Amino acid sequence: MDSNRPPVGPPASEIAGLVRRYLSRFETLGWNRFEDFAWDKIEGERLSEPQLDALRTAMLVEDHIPGYSKAYCDLFALDPSFSENELALRRQMLHFVARWVYDEDRHAHTLENYMRACGRYDARSLDAEMLKTVAVPYAAPHPENAMQMAVYTVIQEKATQVFYSCLRDAVTEPVLKDVLNRLSQDEARHCGFFVDLFKIYLAVPGGVDYAKVKEAVVAFKMPLYGTLDNYKRRSITMMRAAEGYHFRDAFGLIEQAVTRYADAAPGSRSHTVEDLLATLSAISDPTAARRRAAVPAAV
Ligand SMILES: [Fe+2]
Ligand SMILES: [Fe+2]
Repeated sequence: MDSNRPPVGPPASEIAGLVRRYLSRFETLGWNRFEDFAWDKIEGERLSEPQLDALRTAMLVEDHIPGYSKAYCDLFALDPSFSENELALRRQMLHFVARWVYDEDRHAHTLENYMRACGRYDARSLDAEMLKTVAVPYAAPHPENAMQMAVYTVIQEKATQVFYSCLRDAVTEPVLKDVLNRLSQDEARHCGFFVDLFKIYLAVPGGVDYAKVKEAVVAFKMPLYGTLDNYKRRSITMMRAAEGYHFRDAFGLIEQAVTRYADAAPGSRSHTVEDLLATLSAISDPTAARRRAAVPAAV
């Protein structure tokens, strides 16, 4: 694709409204990453080995924020050759990105502060792993397609929110419960923003190429897959530590949004939409998909 010719985006006024609603409600919401937690009250002995490992992976993923922020700033980079609508849309998105990146940076730093205060990690090994990981360049999965990145980020934010809330419920250490609760609330807000962004694309006639949505869904991998050592073992440990967590739960939000807009426009359920919905349903609930496949078509 010619990088100077982005796909036609939704009206910039819709994006401006979304960003305004988000920042009006959440601009000043938050906490102080150093001052607002009872670091001296941590009962570190309450943390299990899988919980310690899961926390370490979550912190390393959040800490990659220099890479993620560059990727989203590049995604919405401004170029004089763009249409007025495209420039305005990107400028609005960059207002959101600035606030979002701040939240994510605070997540990384708060988790790091907790890990250093809890007395269960070796500081030298933590320093070495953090610096090794953060220096690896990040490659966004869809660097030239903002709609696909919206789909990707809905899934990623939802998976992260579910992980933090399941881990919060699983741990008995009170300060970590507090940290995870705050992080989980932020991730829920982030996810809500990206769901609403995706809905704006869906509402524009021709605003969504459903085959591209399927491409983003099928290719989905959590950030730092392929960067962190032993990623598969780490993922299994995260699921063990945060009982009830599985990132496939996050695909349901895309399924709901696509279903709603496909049903709202009579006759719009093309083969491509049906194919996407079947894929989403199989990922969200593989056992149900197998049961459906086992039923003869004529029944
Ligand atoms: Fe985060
Ligand atoms: Fe987030």
